[in-house]
This record gives sequence, structure tokens and C-alpha cells, in this order.
Amino acid sequence: MQQNWSQEIYIKALEKAAQAHQGQKMPGSEIPYIIHLSFVSMELIAALNVEKERDGNLAIQCAILHDVIEDTATTFEEIKTEFGEAIANGVLALTKDNSLEKKLQMADSLRRVKKQPPEIWMVKLADRISNLQAPPHYWNQEKIIQYREEGIQIYETLKEASSFLASRLASKIEDYKAFIK
Ligand code: NI
Repeated sequence: MQQNWSQEIYIKALEKAAQAHQGQKMPGSEIPYIIHLSFVSMELIAALNVEKERDGNLAIQCAILHDVIEDTATTFEEIKTEFGEAIANGVLALTKDNSLEKKLQMADSLRRVKKQPPEIWMVKLADRISNLQAPPHYWNQEKIIQYREEGIQIYETLKEASSFLASRLASKIEDYKAFIK
């Protein structure tokens, strides 16, 4: 079977992410944050197994690094120097703009993601697939409902990039109803 991504590139990106996110935990939990990055990259690898025309290395590096600009001291320039411009641009598009009002941030990010190659759309789909697990215990119903609706917005905006990830996200959105009382 022909593989469209490299283990060495995966390792380099995961080492960078592990250093950058060191000490961070999953929301409402003691589990290291890096588990989220392994979930997102796993979803990408599953999709790349069937959608072989995609640039696997671009997708996987952006999956592993997708939160480093948003959540750590890592800069765009640093990612550009170490991983190249395409990766840095992808990660930046996946980064929320905190200067905007919170309710505008998702639409703004999706607009920027849509200007990127489809591999970046795939990262956003995989990110939300991974995040539609049981919500943190301190979320209220309003937040949970809103998070599900945001999932639908991501699905509707980016589904063309990957029928594999789109159908997986659709089933996660359906299952998430169980958390709405
Ligand atoms: Ni994420």
C-alpha cells in the first residue's frame, strides 16, 4: 500500500508540539494536552488511507501543530523556519483571532481556513471530530448546544475537503445529542 506521509516528519512535528504544549492539560482533566494532537492526527491518518490524492505530510504536520500558535509561546516565524511556509500558513489559519469578539472567531477562522489547501480543511474537520467527545464537566447546557451547532457549521463549511472525515463528523454530531438533556 502506498503511503502519502512520512513517519520522520510526524516524529519531528510531534516532538515540537510536545515541547510547546509541555505542562498543558486537557480541559477539566489531568490528562496531558498532547493526547488531543494524537487524536487529531490519527483521524487524519485514517482519512489519508482512503483519500490518497491528499498531501499527507502537509495534513499531518498541521494536525500536530494546529494549536501551537493559539495556545503556546510558539510564533508563526518559528513554525515557518522549522517546518516551512505552507505549514505555518495552515496553522495560522487554524488559529483563532483573539482580537475579535468571541462569537465572531469561528466564522473568521473558517473563512481563513477555506482560503487554504483542502488538507487544512481536513485538520479542522478532524479537530472537531476529536472534540465531540464527552464535554468537560463544568460546561452548561447552553455551551454544549452551542458547541454542537458550531460542529454543524464546520461540517457545512468544510465537508467538500474529505468525504471520509465529513461522514465521521456527521456521526459525531449525531452522537453528541446524548449530552443534551
Ligand atoms: Ni484542537
